[in-house]
Amino acid sequence: GFQGPHVFVLFGASGDLAKKKIYPTLWWLFRDKLLPENTLIIGYARSELNVGDIRKHFEEYCKVRKDDEQQKAAFEEFVNRNTYISGKYDTDEGFISLNNAIEQTEELYKKPAKRLFYLAVPPNVFEPVSAMISKHCMDKGGDAWTRVVIEKPFGHDDVSSKKLSDHLAKLFKEEQIYRIDHYLGKEMVQNLVILRFGNRFISPSWNREHIAAITISFKEDFGTQGRGGYFDESGIIRDVMQNHLMQILTIVAMEKPASLSPEDIRNEKVKVLKCIHPVTEKDIVVGQYTANPNGDNDDSRTGYLEDSQVPKDSITPTFATAVLHVNNERWDGVPFFLRCGKALNERKAEVRIQYKDVAGDIFVEGQLKRDELVIRVQPNEAVYMKLMTKKPGFGFEAEETELDLTYNSRYKNIRLPDAYERLICDLLSGIQYNFVRADELEHAWRIFTPILKTLEEKKTKPHQYIFGSRGPEASDKLMHEHGYIFSG
Ligand code: BG6
Repeated sequence: GFQGPHVFVLFGASGDLAKKKIYPTLWWLFRDKLLPENTLIIGYARSELNVGDIRKHFEEYCKVRKDDEQQKAAFEEFVNRNTYISGKYDTDEGFISLNNAIEQTEELYKKPAKRLFYLAVPPNVFEPVSAMISKHCMDKGGDAWTRVVIEKPFGHDDVSSKKLSDHLAKLFKEEQIYRIDHYLGKEMVQNLVILRFGNRFISPSWNREHIAAITISFKEDFGTQGRGGYFDESGIIRDVMQNHLMQILTIVAMEKPASLSPEDIRNEKVKVLKCIHPVTEKDIVVGQYTANPNGDNDDSRTGYLEDSQVPKDSITPTFATAVLHVNNERWDGVPFFLRCGKALNERKAEVRIQYKDVAGDIFVEGQLKRDELVIRVQPNEAVYMKLMTKKPGFGFEAEETELDLTYNSRYKNIRLPDAYERLICDLLSGIQYNFVRADELEHAWRIFTPILKTLEEKKTKPHQYIFGSRGPEASDKLMHEHGYIFSG
């Protein structure tokens, strides 16, 4: 096999994403022997720092066990795999030194390095950094490779996103570009493919004949925590709905791919997207949270507009529910609700499949409730089915109950890898199906850009909802109008 070095270059090494997510993830992979041997990690950022400084930034997030001497030693070994280069993002010098550092490793191993460039940098430097990589840092061929990893925001709307995609397409092949949507790395999102295509009793009912509605929801129980500046430029539609929730929707709705190859899967996802019309004003409810005077922390006692980084007249939504339709033979007429919000009553993400009423009901009117299949993405991963059974005992009443597969009781001793651990493993092994292809992105923007523009141009005032509530009532009303029945 390949004995040569891997080089993992982390741009934005001194930033938040690097210290809270990427460095700790690399450490966990190293600790669990999932990082390829001979991996060199090069941090790159503008600040004049050294490895010691960088280590100080990320160490507290690595959760190294203080009582475990072996782990502590392994952590030192991990730190020794790191080096740091300070350089600008848009001039040649830094990238020339970076390439020299990679070449030194290549000389040491007498093999060309596999080169992975992770852009944990603000979006305004995506273009210069990728251009500089392509100019100075490409691999030396053979069985080596170059991969470039970027995270959202991939543009602000259809036009800016296309500009970024076109820029990247000039520099790299699509197989070299890894666009992260970390929801694709979550255990239960991946499980959707097996649940759908590995079960005879699920697949035949997965259509408009049997399903009344599908809800994909994302709720967080915290607000901007005083740092609303970044959020205010995006809002919940760009931050969560257009990417994380749409990705889940496409996996729920896609036809069975010809194989599990990345291209077969992503082709099916794109076909779903092509069947979805852009969201219009009547298809969406937007909300913005207000303070909860009885809240038990500063975050909840501060309304969105009271965050010092948020303009006082901001109309940025912190909550949104949209109804989408997939106009094809399988899904015609079935509403897909995408619902997401910050500062709600709980932290939870789930997919809820609501089945239609039983035909020809013979029971006491009102006893039967609709069946539901729920895939709880987080927290406390689970798959459960709400269904009718006989209420135990002498009577003969139908009662709703659950068939429940809760992971922490069924799979007690199995640690579920974090989304980033899984995705970085995939990156290193070149498995691309959990990454977003350019055409998926293009369609997601096609579907959401018009409504984003309309809301901004008309200065549509979001519905207010109190921090810690279920969100605006108008959201329930929209879902109800489209035939959704809320279970008690
Ligand atoms: C990010 C959003 O993509 O996902 C954040 O930008 C959000 O606003 C986060 O909090 C949620 O991720 P997770 O994995 O904690 O559900």
